[in-house]
Amino acid sequence: MKRRTLLKTAAVSLAGANLPILTLAMSSGENAGRAEYDYILTAEPAKARIAPNGDSDILGFNGQFPAPLIRAKQGQTLRVMFINKLNEPTTIHWHGIRIENNMDGVPHLTQAPVPAGGTFLYEFTCPDAGTFWYHPHMNSVEQLGKGLVGALIVEETIPQDYHDVIIGLKDWRLNKDGSYLPLSIPREAFRDGTLGTIATVNGQLKPTIDVPAGERLRLRILNMDNTRVFNLSMRNESAQIIAIDGNPIAVPIALDSHPTGAGMRLDLGYISPNEIGAEIPIFDMKGRFGLEICRLKTVPPTKTSKVKMGIPALPLNPVPAPDLLSAKTLNFAFEWAGALSPSNTKGQVDHNFWLINRRAWSDHSHQDLPDPLAILKLGKSYIFELHNATPHHHPIHLHGLIFTVLESDKKDITPFHTDTILLEKNEHAKIAFVADNPGKWMFHCHVIEHMKTGLMGYITIK
Ligand code: C2O
Ligand code: CU
Ligand code: CU
Repeated sequence: MKRRTLLKTAAVSLAGANLPILTLAMSSGENAGRAEYDYILTAEPAKARIAPNGDSDILGFNGQFPAPLIRAKQGQTLRVMFINKLNEPTTIHWHGIRIENNMDGVPHLTQAPVPAGGTFLYEFTCPDAGTFWYHPHMNSVEQLGKGLVGALIVEETIPQDYHDVIIGLKDWRLNKDGSYLPLSIPREAFRDGTLGTIATVNGQLKPTIDVPAGERLRLRILNMDNTRVFNLSMRNESAQIIAIDGNPIAVPIALDSHPTGAGMRLDLGYISPNEIGAEIPIFDMKGRFGLEICRLKTVPPTKTSKVKMGIPALPLNPVPAPDLLSAKTLNFAFEWAGALSPSNTKGQVDHNFWLINRRAWSDHSHQDLPDPLAILKLGKSYIFELHNATPHHHPIHLHGLIFTVLESDKKDITPFHTDTILLEKNEHAKIAFVADNPGKWMFHCHVIEHMKTGLMGYITIK
């Protein structure tokens, strides 16, 4: 969607809202007449048709699902005027961006929650190009579960010769008539998390996505689900992995199948057939709703372009290389509490099923901040030795930094950059990074129910 359209939509909804937004948003002085933001993003209750037999009450960015696509440019400032029209506080987190700490969107840790009816101007520079996403960081089981997830694309400084295709994955906990099933079931939260019952790709059920024939495509696949792991594959088609979790890899590798946990992304380079009407399915080899998740279908290209040969690597992001010789090693054990505790007096689920280094942090106690898991020295290199001591997988995510995955005892690793590592049960893995971004950075599992039931902490860099 074009910026202009977004701004227009927002202006219409603003008129009714009577918020003091215009004074906030319009510039004066030397920049007079130029809006001080690129996008307006409103979180609001809305209706959408997701289930086959009836509408659902969703929470939507600009009242829609899928959410508006936000495009930014590498090295440039992105300004998003956020308006909270939910009945509860929220924040927006920019997943995967090496952002300034006060723009990271974690309630109490990096900013005050944006109250119902409130606004917040997010303004930050995107140092890295790639496929990222945005979502609230409050009441996440519900706010993300009911639709507040969207794609954030940061374009390379030098335009790349690829045709973009966004493939946004999200499951819903809905009955066929559009009413909700419980978003979280404790005995599932205690295992791999509560899975959805209806799968959407770009808001649709098993859609066919038109793509130009004979083009070099960049399939930007985003797992924006709360829970599910996809094992992505194009089977016999020759697609190449060009980026993992937003970060280009030095040499593209042929896709066989690639596990992609909640919050993770995969960019594939693929040359579509020249033939018009060719259909190319994309699979989840775990096959939760049948193997196929969606298919591409070739249509005549709108512009005549040269014959595409090969899948070029994308330029690498300017992520600093950790100095492994001087790096300090810290250990993190992810453990399973293994016992159900009762709900608290407010009727909220108050289970702590998961621990990081023997500590659990459940979301409702977000206000009384616990101590950081570790305090890191600004500018120093660190190696984190991660141990998943549970019988379940966990996509472990670090805010504000991009780390290098060095090794694992479960698979052969060619070191790569990422913001999330999917740890298999009982896996040991080593990651490393330069602690070059000061602030308090969340370190948590992206299975939303796991983070809500303990698998969450933060590190401080200063
Ligand atoms: Cu998508 Cu705390 O992150
Ligand atoms: Cu994040
Ligand atoms: Cu987890």
